[in-house]
Amino acid sequence: MAFVTEDNLSDLAVKRWATAHSPRLAELMTALVRHLHAYAREVRLTEEEWAAAVEWLTATGRISDDKRQEFILASDVLGLSTLVVQLNHRFSAKATPATVLGPFHIDGSPTAGFGADMSDDIPGAGVHHRPGPRPRRHALPDVVLDVWQADADSAYEAQLPEIDEARLRALYRTRADGTYCVRTIAPRGYAIPMDGPVGDLISRTDISHYRPAHVHFLIDHPGHEKLITHLFREGSAFLDTDVVFGTKDELIVRFTEEPAGSSPDGGTIDEPYLRAEFDFVLQPRATGEPRP
Ligand code: BEZ
Ligand code: FE
Repeated sequence: MAFVTEDNLSDLAVKRWATAHSPRLAELMTALVRHLHAYAREVRLTEEEWAAAVEWLTATGRISDDKRQEFILASDVLGLSTLVVQLNHRFSAKATPATVLGPFHIDGSPTAGFGADMSDDIPGAGVHHRPGPRPRRHALPDVVLDVWQADADSAYEAQLPEIDEARLRALYRTRADGTYCVRTIAPRGYAIPMDGPVGDLISRTDISHYRPAHVHFLIDHPGHEKLITHLFREGSAFLDTDVVFGTKDELIVRFTEEPAGSSPDGGTIDEPYLRAEFDFVLQPRATGEPRP
């Protein structure tokens, strides 16, 4: 074996990691070593900087638990999470684009009927209906829409340890004609958690730590690619500086002001409200086979 020099070290490390037992692991690890070594060489990484990076990674792990995932947040603000979504969900131009899941989705939300209010008595900046499309030729009945959002103070249920019941999240189902109707409070702009190592790093830059007003949707229908996406409120602040690179033109929706009176679910509503419409278009699965 050749002894180590500055010149041969990177090649030696790549060769060593190429012995991984699975070909994919070998591919992942050799590329990682190549890029890490190239990075250290490019910036001429100092020992102090390397130690600071290790400290930052340690703090990121320490602050993470089953409710808070600081590594995901780090991946989000570096644009890596969105890149991974882009690489793995190359839908047709007609399909609704996917975007990041984010750290605040909670499994097992309660079911809600057509037009049911998932905000209950939570104070918000107004009431907001999100009715589905007019019946369409390819409308899909019985599709579950898993919906979640932050409250008017920008807090998700997952960030409120004292909450022990579902809050601003619910499972809606499309009717026979493919329509759905969600009622909730208007979403607002949202600041990512800034009290951890990610916030510390961001605060040493000019990066805005805000996300534009949005509601999250997860639609998992057999025969179609799972769609994880958001809808963003047209005109909201931070649309073009979203700190996690999640905004897409196709996902920006107009919220129109409606007077009190008849409501989109066929009932009545006694105060003015906001209304938005969006047709989700799912990408058929390549094989045509439903997932197990
Ligand atoms: C969010 O869904 O609001 C979110 C996504 C990524 C990072 C932080 C927050
Ligand atoms: Fe969010």
